[in-house]
Amino acid sequence: MTDTPLYLRAIRGEDTPYAPVWFMRQAGRHLPEYRKLKETYSFWELARDPALACEVTLQPVRRYGVDAAILFQDIMTPLPPMGVDIDFKPGPVIADPIRSRAQVDALRVPETDEIAPFVADAIQLIRNETSTPLIGFGGAPLTLATYLIQGSGSKDYAQFRGFLRSDPAAAHALLDKLTEVSIRYLTMQVEAGAQAIQLFDSWAGLHDPATYAEFARPYNVRVFEALGALDVPRIYLAVNSLHLFDTIAGMPMDAISVDWRQPLTMVRERIPGVVVQGNLDPAWLLGPRDALLEQVDRVLTDGLGGAHVFNLGHGMMREIDPGQVQAVVDRVRAFDRSASR
Ligand code: CP3
Repeated sequence: MTDTPLYLRAIRGEDTPYAPVWFMRQAGRHLPEYRKLKETYSFWELARDPALACEVTLQPVRRYGVDAAILFQDIMTPLPPMGVDIDFKPGPVIADPIRSRAQVDALRVPETDEIAPFVADAIQLIRNETSTPLIGFGGAPLTLATYLIQGSGSKDYAQFRGFLRSDPAAAHALLDKLTEVSIRYLTMQVEAGAQAIQLFDSWAGLHDPATYAEFARPYNVRVFEALGALDVPRIYLAVNSLHLFDTIAGMPMDAISVDWRQPLTMVRERIPGVVVQGNLDPAWLLGPRDALLEQVDRVLTDGLGGAHVFNLGHGMMREIDPGQVQAVVDRVRAFDRSASR
C-alpha cells in the first residue's frame, strides 16, 4: 500500500503528510516546449496523434515533477464523431451551432470504439512511459452543450441561456445524448488506463440553482454513477459555483475542485465527505515570488484537516513563467502537513 503514489492516496480520501500537486492546463501554451510543437502542428493534430498527445501530456511531468499527469485532449474531443465540426481559434468554435430540435435529433450517438480510438492509444502509451498517475477527463454535459449551442466562448452566453428557456425539451434531448457519449468516452478512458476522471463543468456558474438542478445535476449524476461502477476516483470541477454548493452537495463524486473565490475550509463544510482540490488563483503566478509563496502556504493551511490535492482554482494562463510554477511545486513539497496540524 505504501507504494501507492501520493496522488492516488489523496484522491481516494487519505489525509496524506504532503499534498500532491498538479495544475489544470499544465500542458499547453505557457510551456516553451509546447509552443515549439505548435509551430508545426495544430491543436487537433497534437491531440489526435497518440505519440504527440503522449509527448505533450508528459512535458509538464518531466519539467516540474508534478504528482499527476492529465491527458492532453480537450473537452470537445468526443464531439466530432457525433457530427459536429469543431475548430480551435484557440478556444473551440462550432461551424454550425445547434439552434433547433432537428439539429439535436440529427446528432449521432457513436459506439464507444468510434468515439476517439486515438485517446485509448495515447493513454496506453502514457501509462507505459511513466509511473506518475494519469487523470482522464471530459466536459460535463451542460458545459459541452454551452459550446454546441452558443458556438464559441461568449461574455453572457445569451443564445445558450435563451435556448434552455425557448426549447427546454430539445435542451434535455441534447443533454441526454451528450451524457450517453460522455459515459462511453470516459469508460473507454478508464478501461485504457486512466486512474482518475475529472468532469469539467466550467460554465456551471452561469446558472441559478434551479436551472442547475434541472439541466446540470441529473446528467452529472448519471455520468458519475456510471463511473462509480468502475471504481475510479471522480473529480467534479465547477467554476464560480459558490451559489450552487447546496445543489452540488451529495452528487456521487469523490473530490471537488473549486476556484479561489471560496476558502477550502468553507467548501469542506458545505460539501462534506469529499476530497478538496484547489484552489490558488492562477493570477498569483503573475505576481511577485514572495506574495505567490505566501498564497501557496495559505491554500495549504486552508487544506489541512482532511485529504487535499493542491491545484489552481482554474487553468494555467499562457503568460505564466515556468519558473513561478516550479517555485509553487517546490513550496508544496516542502509543506509538511503532519507538522502543521
Ligand atoms: O493540461 C491540461 O489541463 C490538459 C489539457 C486540456 C485542454 N483543454 C487542452 C487545450 C484540458 C483539461 C482542457 C479542458 C477544457 N477545454 C475546458 C475545461 C477546463 C476549463 O478551462 O474550464 C474548457 C472550457 C475547454 C475549452 C477550450 N479549449 C478553451 C476555452 C480553449 C482556449 C484556451 C486558451 O488557452 O485560450 C481551448 C483550447 C485548448 N485546449 C488549448 C489547449 C492546450 C489551447 C490550444 C492551442 O494551443 O492553441
